Amino acid sequence: MTETFQITREQAEAYEELFVPALFAQWAPLMIDIARVDEGQRVLDVACGTGVVARAAADRVGRTGSVVGLDLNPAMLEVAAGSRSDIEWRQGDAANLPFGDSEFDAVLCQSALFFFPDVDAAVAEMARVVRPDGAVAVQTYASLDDQPGFLELDAVVRRIAAADALQLLDTYWSQGDLSILCKTLSRAGLDIVETRTTLGTAMYGSVENLIETEVKGTPLADRLSDDQVGQIFTESADIFAKFLTAAGELQMPIRAHLVMGRKL
Ligand SMILES: C[S@@+](CC[C@H](N)C(=O)[O-])C[C@H]1O[C@@H](n2cnc3c(N)ncnc32)[C@H](O)[C@@H]1O
Repeated sequence: MTETFQITREQAEAYEELFVPALFAQWAPLMIDIARVDEGQRVLDVACGTGVVARAAADRVGRTGSVVGLDLNPAMLEVAAGSRSDIEWRQGDAANLPFGDSEFDAVLCQSALFFFPDVDAAVAEMARVVRPDGAVAVQTYASLDDQPGFLELDAVVRRIAAADALQLLDTYWSQGDLSILCKTLSRAGLDIVETRTTLGTAMYGSVENLIETEVKGTPLADRLSDDQVGQIFTESADIFAKFLTAAGELQMPIRAHLVMGRKL
């Protein structure tokens, strides 16, 4: 089974409220920057989720530009639409984008490539809808071995949960090889202009908030019983103590790759 990160409306609301500030918001300005998004441009955010990257793009392109956010999941799009009306929200599949050739100046895809069953097909679609010399920028996470905090989380969940929960966690790190990622973009006819490997911080109010965020705003919500969540929390308290700040907040390092290619 391919993981596609499909969640309910309630989970999408938790995703926006908990997960976006904890993890996803920090990459959005980097995506805008690496793709050289500029005033007046037309930009597509593929697998936009609740729209954190699309919103950053809309702020940059201003009133003379336009932004489209596309996602497979209507629940994500409903939450996105509640946040901004100056962005067009479209339901669709990354592997079959409902746009004509060369329609966009920049196409962005954050934290989603690893959910696509056919990554080559999706990147080929991104390359098709961007104009010649336009930018395609993708962001993924480095391999689990390079993620000291999430390696611990993976180990705890591995001890307690069933295979379907683990499969989701494994998916997050499955596009972690930067050279393979570059080759994927090159195969789609994109000339690699810049790569960045960035050490970011996943920020949670507490260990309890980490577990709540990772479960409530993700498909794990349907794959773990309350007992299992309780057990994960009990085991996590000691393990994550080393990531607590003096103020009692949990800050875990997380390494991401960003790649930008230009259409030849
Ligand atoms: C972890 S979320 C990332 C969302 C957003 N880019 C962000 O940074 O917050 C992954 C998103 O990929 C979307 N997705 C998964 N498979 C997809 C596909 N084939 N086409 C479009 N979106 C897809 C999911 O619905 C989900 O919203």
